[in-house]
Amino acid sequence: MTELTPTLTASNLTKTIGHKTIVDSVSFELQQGEIFGFLGPNGAGKTTTIRMLVGLIRPTAGSVRICGYDIQQNFEDAMRCVGCIVENPDLYRFMTGRENLEHFARMLRVSNSEIERVADAVSLAHRLEQRVGTYSLGMRQRLGIAQALLGNPKLLILDEPANGLDPAGIREIRELLRRLAGEQQMSIFISSHLLAEIELTCDRVAIIHKGRILREGSVRDLISSRRDMELRVDDVPRASVIARERNLTFRTDGDRIWLAMEEADAPPLLSALAEAGVKIFHAQRRAQSLEEMFLEATGGETVD
Ligand SMILES: Nc1ncnc2c1ncn2[C@@H]1O[C@H](COP(=O)(O)OP(=O)(O)OP(=O)(O)O)[C@@H](O)[C@H]1O
Ligand SMILES: [Mg+2]
Repeated sequence: MTELTPTLTASNLTKTIGHKTIVDSVSFELQQGEIFGFLGPNGAGKTTTIRMLVGLIRPTAGSVRICGYDIQQNFEDAMRCVGCIVENPDLYRFMTGRENLEHFARMLRVSNSEIERVADAVSLAHRLEQRVGTYSLGMRQRLGIAQALLGNPKLLILDEPANGLDPAGIREIRELLRRLAGEQQMSIFISSHLLAEIELTCDRVAIIHKGRILREGSVRDLISSRRDMELRVDDVPRASVIARERNLTFRTDGDRIWLAMEEADAPPLLSALAEAGVKIFHAQRRAQSLEEMFLEATGGETVD
């Protein structure tokens, strides 16, 4: 294996149940130390894809390679490289944090000394002797990640790790994931329906909708540059004429106009509007929402 072997390769993954294609030819790659976001609304096919990645369900077509091992041919070798949480962490509430980790450590045949290491990584060492039933949601999520970290996997797969957490809890998990990717060169796959979360946490993102990947790229290219300029003006029709003259894509609503453009295009547009006598009461850059991005990517089809 060379250093360039991707940690995870999904090739044309497809799942059909009955007559319905739930995941349709999904392909992507994760490199070492990279955090990859799988962004899509409810029912997009995120969990189904993850189930195929870790062998919980068999793909109708396509293949998965983890650390160079095809999961159909070398399932156990492949799974030794992965820690994962599918949907919610599988925890026993009547047991303590430590007992939960011991249980999983036994199943994975890893030594109990690992428990201190993973508990430390998720800042739970001080609560290990308490029952999981007394944990907050954020702590349970972190204990789930600790469990996934047992055995020191090269690849971490997390299904909606931010689910149900408050902003402080989300930030804690984000910092933990960035640390794992940065310091240990772990590759991390996270699914989410939260655009802001993916934007802040991930290096690269794929947008999945109705089982198909609509877009894929670096977060910077895909999300950060997709910003609208929002203007509130006294004369929307005149502002629209000027936007059209400059070949800008825009839409209007009431006294507002939204223009899709790069930051560098803002000053000349604002000057042109002012010269034409349009009064600008308010101007701000606004990130395109997930829904708007979907509308654009699907050519106006609504998100369900
Ligand atoms: N075993 C199954 N039989 C039939 N339909 C299924 C099955 N599993 C999933 N589906 C359907 O496939 C679609 C994708 O489901 P999936 O759970 O993968 O979506 P998701 O992106 O994880 O959504 P969420 O954000 O709600 O977790 C949904 O429409 C779901 O109803
Ligand atoms: Mg899901």
